[in-house]
Amino acid sequence: MPDIRIRQTRPLDMPAIQALYPAAFPDEDLLPVVGQLLAGVPGLISLGAFQHESLVGHVIFTPCAADADATAKLSLLAPLAVAPESQRKSIGTALIREGLNRLKSGGISQVFVLGDPAYYGRSGFRPETTIAPPHPLPDEYRDAWQSLTLDATVHPASGNLAVPAPWRDPALWRP
Ligand SMILES: CC(C)(COP(=O)(O)OP(=O)(O)OC[C@H]1O[C@@H](n2cnc3c(N)ncnc32)[C@H](O)[C@@H]1OP(=O)(O)O)[C@@H](O)C(=O)NCCC(=O)NCCS
Repeated sequence: MPDIRIRQTRPLDMPAIQALYPAAFPDEDLLPVVGQLLAGVPGLISLGAFQHESLVGHVIFTPCAADADATAKLSLLAPLAVAPESQRKSIGTALIREGLNRLKSGGISQVFVLGDPAYYGRSGFRPETTIAPPHPLPDEYRDAWQSLTLDATVHPASGNLAVPAPWRDPALWRP
């Protein structure tokens, strides 16, 4: 991996974050949800990958619970973006790994993601069947709903993932 430093983002990083998402996701506008998450969700992990002080990657981990168990300490990984010119240099993998380390230290038992199993499987995510996503997915995307257990001593929660308001828009759950 090139000379990359990963740290929690700060308000001054917002212009760089606003430039990164349209470049990484030319067909999707994730800036509204990213802005709402960064503006108002307590306990958010927002990590930036910086190369020579420039933002080249970003990931958010949102604290969640289960609708059947409000005490479950869960997390949602999304979104993850790496600048097009910096992709396939392990930056996305490093952002995931750093986030998982921080979540584990913070006592989170399980992390969820909706994404390509070919990519997230490399970081240990497996298809999730016990906890359902906040909105139903079409059958063909069932394997895209995945999780990774960080604390196997905690009994896995069941029901639906209970997410904070910015993640409740059904449009965000259409793959
Ligand atoms: C997907 C993304 C985050 C990966 O980040 P990255 O830093 O390029 O990934 P890494 O370098 O850690 O891993 C690269 C490996 O993952 C694989 N990979 C990359 N993107 C992939 C994808 N969309 N699906 C499956 N595999 C993928 C590649 O095969 C690559 O392995 P290889 O170089 O040995 O062939 C990045 O490409 C990106 O931002 N893409 C656009 C936005 C996006 O789709 N985000 C995902 C949100 S679910």
